[in-house]
Amino acid sequence: MRGDGAGPVHDLSLGNPSLEPPACWRRAVAELLADGEEPGRHRYMTNAGFPEVREFIARREGARYGLDVRVEDVVMTVGAAGALNVLFRAVLDPGDEVVVPAPYFSEYDHYCHNHQAKLVPVRGARPGFALDPEAIERAISERTRIVLLNSPNNPTGAIYSARDLTALGEVLRRASTGRRRSLWVVEDAPYRDLVYDGSHVSSMLEHHDQVAFVTSHSKDLGLAGERIGYIVVSPRARGGDLLARAAGFCNRTLGFVNAPALMQRALPHVLGRPEGRVDVEVYAANCRAMAQGLRELGFGLEPPRAGFFLFPELPATWTGRGGADDPGGDIALTDALRGQRTIVVPGTAFGVPGHLRLSMCVVPPVVEAALVAFRAVCA
Ligand SMILES: Cc1ncc(COP(=O)(O)O)c(C=O)c1O
Repeated sequence: MRGDGAGPVHDLSLGNPSLEPPACWRRAVAELLADGEEPGRHRYMTNAGFPEVREFIARREGARYGLDVRVEDVVMTVGAAGALNVLFRAVLDPGDEVVVPAPYFSEYDHYCHNHQAKLVPVRGARPGFALDPEAIERAISERTRIVLLNSPNNPTGAIYSARDLTALGEVLRRASTGRRRSLWVVEDAPYRDLVYDGSHVSSMLEHHDQVAFVTSHSKDLGLAGERIGYIVVSPRARGGDLLARAAGFCNRTLGFVNAPALMQRALPHVLGRPEGRVDVEVYAANCRAMAQGLRELGFGLEPPRAGFFLFPELPATWTGRGGADDPGGDIALTDALRGQRTIVVPGTAFGVPGHLRLSMCVVPPVVEAALVAFRAVCA
């Protein structure tokens, strides 16, 4: 469409960070590469990453979640995507199941497929896509090896509360009784530092022992193309040492080998500095403006609190408009918006018809133009 000469395209489909990395990250990388760098800093290292970087991460995450995280609990990875694949490879046998609240980041399907595992989406009954521990309990079977959580969530923006995570911990302890192979929580949290009011996002690390935590700096440092993330295995997990070692091994055998060396070394110079983060207010302002405009058109959505995605529910007038294959009307609305040169993703792609997924990592004029398109098709 961009090439058709018919004008700009308002693309709300991709979650590609629009904010540039912070200046202190640029300076750190330049200084690390400056003359006088000690030799050997660009070679292979231990597959789990540079020990001094893992030590830094262990201290930082330990302080954040009140845990005694050790260097051997940390594995540096090629983004969160690399971390998830490494953990899946380490834990899952063919036919094993991964339970995930729906809607969910659609790449999870492919990651499960990579390891011949089955993704089991669970649609909860709670408003605002809050975590529904009872629904998860009902979905856990003999073959479940992983409960996969993502908070703040892509696509819904939901943040799981400490109370719900505690309740999930109880569910998982019950479900784990008598099992030969343990049931892991894999927590995928690349948006935890994009909370608009800066408040603490509870982690399952604070509420349960069998947890492998994953994050990356694709979003909070705007480094999606540089591929840097890590795993923290809870120091309280039974078999945690083995899982962390297996994750290091799978980093190698899946072909990642190790996380990018320069990106690892830059992290201690950036994380923890007040200016060492993108300005989330830019995403917040976009989300607020779009949410307000959509509510005026009859869409349903909770006030956005984190990240850069919105997952509005369509007004009832769209139900059934797309025919039998599109019960929620979200595919019909996606098509209608495309006619107005505005690109969105139907909720059906995330397993939840009747919604749209909108990415707000765009410049503000794109939000305005997209709202004009929404008004035109919803009028
Ligand atoms: C929920 C979720 N998990 C994982 C990823 C992958 O992130 P990374 O770029 O760190 O691999 C994304 C990227 O959009 C995401 O939204």
